Amino acid sequence: MKSFAPKPWVVPQPVLIIGTYNKEGVANAMNAAWAGQWDMKEIIISMGNHVTTDNLKLGGEFTVAFATKKTMVASDFVGIVSAKNDPKKMEKTGWNIKKANMVNAPVFTDFPMTLECRIKEKYDESETGYYLVAEIVNILVDEKYLAEDGNPDMEKMELIVFDPIHHSYIQLGEKASCRVRDKVSRVIRYNESRSESVHVFLGPVEERAVIEIPCRDIAEHEVCPGVQVGCEFV
Ligand SMILES: Cc1cc2nc3c(=O)[nH]c(=O)nc-3n(C[C@H](O)[C@H](O)[C@H](O)COP(=O)(O)O)c2cc1C
Repeated sequence: MKSFAPKPWVVPQPVLIIGTYNKEGVANAMNAAWAGQWDMKEIIISMGNHVTTDNLKLGGEFTVAFATKKTMVASDFVGIVSAKNDPKKMEKTGWNIKKANMVNAPVFTDFPMTLECRIKEKYDESETGYYLVAEIVNILVDEKYLAEDGNPDMEKMELIVFDPIHHSYIQLGEKASCRVRDKVSRVIRYNESRSESVHVFLGPVEERAVIEIPCRDIAEHEVCPGVQVGCEFV
């Protein structure tokens, strides 16, 4: 194995578009990759010193959109050009903008999913920035990107992630596994015999592997796409 000196190489990194208003109510956007989930309803972002940072002083409310294949070029653009240097920054993205439902911040409707957030805490604040923890107060999802179960469908969104090693963007691919529970959920729901365990068959009938799973643990088990799953209570 080759050794490397420490680098910011947690991979992949999200491509978050942070939307804010300035004091005149003009929308701005920046790109943030050093960010993630902090708690159940909270996110963390490592914020440098940007126009966005000035805007956040006004009320601490902002939006977070998840960049996609379609929005990639403009998402990169808002990450390399500051509104300080280009007053037409947002016009150049071509994005459609409306006000968020629950916070005073812009929603870029070209993105499938947007979090509405409010700053809760700032850590290590200095002239160069801070780490912010923000509460997610609402989540907006374009109906086109909902799965059959009514929840957001990440595959439909064609999300991109950031590669901090080669400074490039990578499009997320297909689902690599799914929970056995989802494949056999109908059967589990109708567990009329109230069995403790279930035999799960993986693969075609003639060569199927059988695993025995306690019913209460079935949510933990995963299978690859394409694998046939059947089950029978024991
Ligand atoms: C891929 C990428 C990731 C970035 N991640 C961050 C980040 O996590 N935190 C940050 O403060 N700036 C980050 N930046 C830089 C800001 O997006 C950039 O300075 C932006 O132009 C600021 O815009 P503004 O001054 O109009 O607010 C990133 C830029 C790119 C291209």
